[in-house]
This record gives sequence, structure tokens and C-alpha cells, in this order.
Amino acid sequence: MKLLILGATFFALYTIQKYIEVRRVIKSVHSHPGTRTIFSLRSLIGNILPRIPGVSRGINANWVGKHKPYAEAGWDVLANVTFVPSAAVTLSLADAAAIKEITTARARFPKPIKQYKLVSFFGDNIIASEGEEWKRYRKIAAPAFNDRNNKLIWDETLRIMLDLFDNVWGSQDTIVVEHGISLTQPVTEYLGAIAAIPPGHRMAFKDALNEVSQGCLTKFLVPSWAMGLHEHTRTVRLAFEELEIHMLEMISKRRNEGKKEERYDLLSSLLDASIEDPTFTDRDLMGNIFIFLVAGHETTAHTLCFTFALLALYPEEQEILFQHIKSVLSDGRLPVNSIPKYSIEDTTLTISNGAGDKRIIPVPKDAHIVINAVGLHYNPRYWKDPEEFRPARFLDPDWPRDAFVPFSAGSFSETEAVAVLTMLVLKYQFEVKEEPQFASESFEERKARVLASKPGLTMSPIRVPLVFRRR
Ligand SMILES: *[C@@H]1O[C@H](CO)[C@@H](O)[C@H](O)[C@H]1NC(C)=O
Repeated sequence: MKLLILGATFFALYTIQKYIEVRRVIKSVHSHPGTRTIFSLRSLIGNILPRIPGVSRGINANWVGKHKPYAEAGWDVLANVTFVPSAAVTLSLADAAAIKEITTARARFPKPIKQYKLVSFFGDNIIASEGEEWKRYRKIAAPAFNDRNNKLIWDETLRIMLDLFDNVWGSQDTIVVEHGISLTQPVTEYLGAIAAIPPGHRMAFKDALNEVSQGCLTKFLVPSWAMGLHEHTRTVRLAFEELEIHMLEMISKRRNEGKKEERYDLLSSLLDASIEDPTFTDRDLMGNIFIFLVAGHETTAHTLCFTFALLALYPEEQEILFQHIKSVLSDGRLPVNSIPKYSIEDTTLTISNGAGDKRIIPVPKDAHIVINAVGLHYNPRYWKDPEEFRPARFLDPDWPRDAFVPFSAGSFSETEAVAVLTMLVLKYQFEVKEEPQFASESFEERKARVLASKPGLTMSPIRVPLVFRRR
């Protein structure tokens, strides 16, 4: 009984203390509107629970909410407050001017390096660094992003696509693809990720890569002693171990090959740099290779898959793209979700809304800041009918550049994605596969179904069934 009273007293004190902290935090941003939830995404529970109003926001909140929460609040910046692990404010931005201010003032609003530890398992890297270290990594990676390499990537991707058309799809007029993600194969092939399990391994490179990018959050949040307790966490643990061995083998293989062949990929650039620059350690090499594998692999594969889905849903847009590609190639040639920041000092941010009101909100030191790319891209203040798939909006010379922050993985994956898309659209016409169980769905239902996603390191398409017909 005594223990119970003691427990209750502690709980009451804890609640009062949290309440006072939260009041202070809310006051520090002049009670700017935003969501109040108990668990933040910086806590394990916050990552596990779905969206429960007042309790947790769910890991997919930005995508689910799009611009709606901002429209409801009347401001394109929200000051969300959470209680656990500690009372804290997170500014969630869908305001182009405020985002520009934050991204240009790199020194005042650096990346929260600690949060990026999520992608630093194998070593520090260009994404998880700031300042001098970031500059050093960038200098080493930059030479790989040139026109010559782009051309080689382009040619290599075309070769892989032609091989798919000639030797796999062959003379079939209709090809059913159960999930569009399988068409993003070139991305993986060009990375040299092999599908077979080589001797001495327990997992193929390709599977290890997939499991690791899906399992990053698990690995980050689950303590290592607990990773052996469940089938799923055991697989993730194995994938991490295997990927490390695969990467080490890849490095030593390339090192032994020397510079015989002309190499055009980032891995070779990083290797060359590590040979020329003795301060570039093996950890640096591993950390950055991992980042480019994940960035190159995941972002491109998923973006491409969503693009297939949209073009399948909007045949008129697909036709426009086809005509455009044909006209470009008329001479017979073959052709090319949220960002965290924080403030290092007490500062302010000027924000405005669709009605033309302006407001200056305080940004306390150490406030978390999230650039909500989804909120921005669906903000009707900048984009007319933001829910519509209308690629032609980018043809308007005055399209709002400040309201577009795709944070792409760079020209490497762009070149490749455009090559895959061009080849497919040129040779095939495609649509969403008709399936009896979905016979009566409306266009909007179908669109929601094929664009459905699950959050991972990047947003993953769940299932995009397509039918390709030879043109
Ligand atoms: C802030 O709250 C809104 C509304 O619930 C949500 O859509 C958004 O994802 C939240 N942002 C952050 C960074 O917590």
C-alpha cells in the first residue's frame, strides 16, 4: 500500500513537472498553433504507435496530412509540441520563404548530426556531416558527378533495358508486372548488387541492401542485446553484418583490380580519393559507400516506381511524354520526405500565410525544425490544384522554384531514372493492371491504392501492378 502511494506521488510529481515544462515550451514560441502529442518521433514508442490524436503522430504523418494541417491552422508553419523523451518544440515548415531562410543560413540552422546517426552505422558520411567534414566528403565525391560519367551511366542503363526488352520480354505483346518496383532493376544492377548468395555468405548483396534500408530504423531504435530476440530483428542484424562484408569485399576487389578498366561509378571515385588522400580512412570510405548505395538504390527505385504508377493512372500525360521523347529522338539517336534542422541560437523566423498576414515567431535555441516537403509540395499557395498529377506545370517559365525541394540524390540517379523511363515509354504503353477484386473502384480509390506507401528510410511503394503493351 505504501509503495502504491509512493508510486502515485512520483507519478503526480512527474506529470506536474512535465506540465510545467510543456507550458514553458509552448510559451517560448508565443503559443503558435501546432499539434500537442505525448510521444515524439525521438522516442521508441512514438515510432511504434500509429497516429493517435494527443498521444502519437505516426511515422507517416507528413504524407497523410499533406497540406491539410497547415490549412486548418491558417499558417504554413506549425509549432508541434511533444512531452516524451523531453518537452520540446518542433517547427514543421511548409512555407517557402521560411524554408529558404533556413536552408541558406547553414551556420545558424545546421543539421542535427545526432539524428543522422541513423545512417552512420558504417562510418561518417556526406549526409551525416556538417562544416569542414562535409566539405571534405563533397570534394571527394564531386568529380564523379560530371557529364562524362553521366553519359556512361546513360549508355549502361540503356544496355540493361535493351537486354530486358530483347531477352526477357522478347516478342510478347503484353507483359504483366506484378509490382513496378521490379522494373527498377537497372539501379541495382548498375550498383553491382548481385542476387545470388556467394560462397562464404549467408545473404545475397541485393537482399542485404534491401533489408538494411528497410531495417535502419529498427537497428537504430532496438538496443543490440534485443536484436536476437525476434525473427525480424535477427534478419535485420544479419543483413547489417552481411552488407558490411559485401562492401569490404567490393572495396578490396576494386583495389586489387587497379585502374585497368575505365570506371565511371561513384565507388571508383571514392576509392581513387581514398588512395590519393591518406586522411580518408576505411571508415570514411564505408560510410560514404553505404550512403550512396542507399541513396542511389532506394530513392531512384522508389521514385521511378511512383512515376510508373502516375503515368499508368494518367494515360494522357503518358502520351504527351511519349510524343516528346519521340520528337527529341527524331534523328534516330537514343537519348537523358522530410529534412531535419535545428537552431543553434535564440532567433526568429518571419512567416506568412495565404491571406497575406505576416508574423514573427521566436525560434528558441535547440528547437527542432523539420522541412515538410510534402506540406510544401501540396501547398495551394504555390501550386494550383496540388493534388493533380500535372507534369506540365514545370514547363511554365515562372514555376515556383522556392516551393520545390525534392532533395534528389543527385545527377547519378537522375540520369539513370530518366534513361529507364525513356526506354519504357518509347517502346511500351502501360496501364494499371485490371484485377477482379478492384473492378468497381473509382479513379480516386485506384489512385490511392497504387500510390499507397510505407515509410522506410525513404517512402516505399507497396504494390504497383502494371500491364505493358508493345507500341
Ligand atoms: C506537426 O503536426 C502536423 C499535424 O498533426 C503533422 O502533419 C506534422 O507531420 C507534424 N510535424 C512534425 C515535424 O511533427
